[in-house]
Amino acid sequence: MGQRVHLVAAALLLAILITANWFSGDLRDLIGYCPRIGYLLQTVNGVGRGPSVAGDNHDNRPLAANLSACHASLTDADRPTYCCPPRRDADQIVVEFQLPEIAPSPLRVRRPAHLLDSDYVAKYEKAVAIMKSLPSDHPHSFLRQANNHCLYCTGSYNQVNSTSLFKIHRSWFFFPWHRAFLYFHERILGKLIGDDTFALPYWSWDNPEGMVMPEFYTRGAFNSTQREPGHLPPHVADLNYQREETGRKPEEQMAVNLAFMYHQMVSGARKAELFMGCKLTAGAEGGCDGPGTIEDAPHNTVHEWVGNGLNPEREYMGAFYTAARDPAFYAHHANIDRLWTVWRKIMDSAAPDFTESSWLDTSFTFYDENLRFVRIKVRDCLDPAKLGYAYENIDLPWLNARPKPAVPPEVARNILKKKDEWSTLLASGNPDGQTTYFNNEEQALGATVRARVQRPRRHGAQAEKGEEEEILVVYGIHVLGDVYAKFDVFVNLVADEKKAGPLAREFAGTFVNTPRGARRVGEDRLSAAWRKSTLKLGISELLEDLKADRDENVWVSLVPRAGSGANIMVDGIRIELLR
Ligand SMILES: *[C@@H]1O[C@H](CO)[C@@H](O)[C@H](O)[C@H]1NC(C)=O
Ligand SMILES: *[C@@H]1O[C@H](CO)[C@@H](O)[C@H](O)[C@H]1NC(C)=O
Ligand SMILES: *[C@@H]1O[C@H](CO)[C@@H](O)[C@H](O)[C@H]1NC(C)=O
Repeated sequence: MGQRVHLVAAALLLAILITANWFSGDLRDLIGYCPRIGYLLQTVNGVGRGPSVAGDNHDNRPLAANLSACHASLTDADRPTYCCPPRRDADQIVVEFQLPEIAPSPLRVRRPAHLLDSDYVAKYEKAVAIMKSLPSDHPHSFLRQANNHCLYCTGSYNQVNSTSLFKIHRSWFFFPWHRAFLYFHERILGKLIGDDTFALPYWSWDNPEGMVMPEFYTRGAFNSTQREPGHLPPHVADLNYQREETGRKPEEQMAVNLAFMYHQMVSGARKAELFMGCKLTAGAEGGCDGPGTIEDAPHNTVHEWVGNGLNPEREYMGAFYTAARDPAFYAHHANIDRLWTVWRKIMDSAAPDFTESSWLDTSFTFYDENLRFVRIKVRDCLDPAKLGYAYENIDLPWLNARPKPAVPPEVARNILKKKDEWSTLLASGNPDGQTTYFNNEEQALGATVRARVQRPRRHGAQAEKGEEEEILVVYGIHVLGDVYAKFDVFVNLVADEKKAGPLAREFAGTFVNTPRGARRVGEDRLSAAWRKSTLKLGISELLEDLKADRDENVWVSLVPRAGSGANIMVDGIRIELLR
């Protein structure tokens, strides 16, 4: 497209509609369409699809930590913390990772924690107790193990050849880094008790039988004083926790959890990037912030749910720098690792792994069970069987928990049609048909924001439809002060958004910001608060179920949760096709 066409497109972007309190508001409130001049220019000069999103342009360098530059970092609440090892990692001899010899020793089988017998729990507890008794400078000590997480999560290392921090959350490194971490942790525990079949248990919060924190975590070496007292057994975990007690009965909470799991594992995760997270690559240009479905929640939300609300950062589990000091961390993450294997199975070839070297060759370092300092690459982490462990299968009841529309689509359609009539002038004639800008550079989510978003036209044969996933992109999400923040996204919702949640098919996903402390000590908060997040939600199946898959546009609602909306700013919404 030439500049002129862009200019026309930009002008037509006046076809914008954004409404706060749409249903109660009056018609004048529906209209707000004065994009700033600068904004138009940005469109003209840019890629033509709205402001560029960090992570769209990236080179192909894999990441590695600069081991000679371990430094203090900031906790989520801005307090300096120091997780670096007592002896410089850069002075250690680095050994390249080799896959373990599997035969003749049997596979380590990770079992659901709530099914462990007392002998197994005793064995595991002994291993944890030994770990906790080691001197704190020993690489196998419980504190050093926990600090591994702190190192790679609060940005203690710079990337090599860059001043950018190396952080593995909220991107496609989330799954492989945690897999490698648990791999070494498990083998160290086994070594401490002389059992080379030892396997970590997993906390199967995706299955009703495992939705309560396994009881043994409240005992002995597994116990922790730093947990939310009201969430200990027998309370059912709220997988979409928003720092508010819902008052749901256990069975109700379980049903919501299953519908939520269906969304995060199946309908919202039909492409690798949706499930795994954005493609973070090296250097400042390669930065991105876009967690995959499971990392966003239940990963973040269960961390929040377990952590002690009386602590400033919900430590331990609620904060990156302390999360792995809670023994329950390892069971939580074993379940997340297991869900990665489950997702690969249910998606089969539909969502293959990434093939980029910037992912496969990115490396992390850990001490192994023999105290060797090992460099392991993402490509080494893809097959649990090769790493010598497996998961005991359990039922996946969420596979059958496909939610139903809260309001019959025909009824909703009539209500929505009225809105269409009101806004025809505003929404028609947007030739690129993809982007909804808000009336300003950023729109605060102080209250629910609704926008009508045009769907892209599909090109080519209808037969290709199966391979393309329609994704709703909420872009330029900026959390002021990097505080905890959450909002839910709905499509064509006409029911009360205060009550609507994952049980409604209109629920398209959620955005959760657990603070990232994304800067060095001494670095100015404003200069680092730059990194805007992108939320990508797969909506093809949802649109079918809402009978909206032939409509030209959909209504999108962004509903702030937990009183955090005033801190959330959003640049816009668009719908894309992802192959
Ligand atoms: C860092 O830069 C050096 C020198 O240009 C290069 O040899 C090395 O491969 C780079 N390392 C990474 C991980 O990019
Ligand atoms: C690693 O960090 C040190 C200290 O900041 C710096 O001098 C060195 O150039 C960095 N090395 C690489 C390869 O980035
Ligand atoms: C576990 O920790 C809690 C909180 O400190 C404490 O009240 C409880 O007595 C402990 N339980 C055991 C078995 O140590």
